[in-house]
Amino acid sequence: MDPDNFDSSELETAGQILRDGGLVAFPTETVYGLGGNALDSKASEKIYSAKGRPSDNPLIVHIGDISSLDKIVREVPECAKKLMEKCWPGPLTLIFKKSDIVPKETTGGLDTVAVRYPSHPIANALIKGSGVYVAAPSANLSGRPSPTRAEHVIEDLDGRVDMIIGAGSAGIGLESTIVDVSGDTPCILRPGFFTEESIREIIGDVDVDPVVLAKTRPNKDMKAKAPGMKYRHYAPKGEMTIVDGERTSVAEYINGKVNEGMSQGKKIAIITCDENKDLYMQGVVMSLGSRKVSGEIAGHVFDTLRQMDELGVQEIYAECFDGCSLGTAVMNRLRKAAGYNVVNV
Ligand code: TXA
Ligand code: MG
Repeated sequence: MDPDNFDSSELETAGQILRDGGLVAFPTETVYGLGGNALDSKASEKIYSAKGRPSDNPLIVHIGDISSLDKIVREVPECAKKLMEKCWPGPLTLIFKKSDIVPKETTGGLDTVAVRYPSHPIANALIKGSGVYVAAPSANLSGRPSPTRAEHVIEDLDGRVDMIIGAGSAGIGLESTIVDVSGDTPCILRPGFFTEESIREIIGDVDVDPVVLAKTRPNKDMKAKAPGMKYRHYAPKGEMTIVDGERTSVAEYINGKVNEGMSQGKKIAIITCDENKDLYMQGVVMSLGSRKVSGEIAGHVFDTLRQMDELGVQEIYAECFDGCSLGTAVMNRLRKAAGYNVVNV
């Protein structure tokens, strides 16, 4: 489906499926989502089961206009209003105290509800046209990288859902920024397109859940405030290591490891960028794009992690991307993919 010129009859069918309690995968401006009726506990249960997702990991409720918000939340704090005005529709999820009509199945048993108003034209037309609140986690099997292209959704969910709406690449390629506005001080629970700095510019003070910035595996006392952030995520089958340090030392270390592994007959991959890819002569060299082009690295993270499995690589070495655009969000996903296996050189 062409996001700028699509046939609404397919969306009418999709809307009917949602109203009937079925599941529809659809594109958004972040990643593809797997939608079901958020106010129908049976539909939420179907989502958990199609994804193989633990049912204590709550779903995000997607709306098609701001006026739909009031019915599902208890209150809309001032800071939320400011964020909504600047960032909605768009890649920002807000956590509110939930109203009684939102079933506990949708919120993983919590008294709060995550709400997002996506800007993707197909997502928007689907949600509005269906007339339902659409619970939608990322449309991947639990534990796999989030899907940024229709092929990824088909790979993971074909035969497990009622309909998949394909529309090329999701734009940003990383999931939405999540800000909890249900407590006294707003808190970032998941980094994304809207950075800590941009949120601060809009509302002033904001906390960041320490789990988000953890460079090593968070210990048991550091409990993630977004339940989903505690699960092993995005992990490729090969053993992944992130190598941190000065550019040439990183390349030297990785080249040594590639040599060593290849002499043992292993297939090894390197995750790098356009600026550094010529530093690597052997192994499967995968560039995420240019560090200088805004959003390019972020847009290729999940697709590249999926390709690691397709290529059957046994070891993966990734550079650090802290300094590039959306670096915090990119490194949060890569560190999780590597199970926090980081080497400093
Ligand atoms: O960009 C996105 O947000 C995508 C697209 C499809 O909209 N959706 C997405 O959903 O990433 P999912 O289910 O993959 O991630 C939702 C995250 C999980 O980490 C979950 O634990 C957290 O949001 N979450 C949902 N409701 C919450 C709540 N009430 N309190 C805290 N965290 C919550
Ligand atoms: Mg997900």
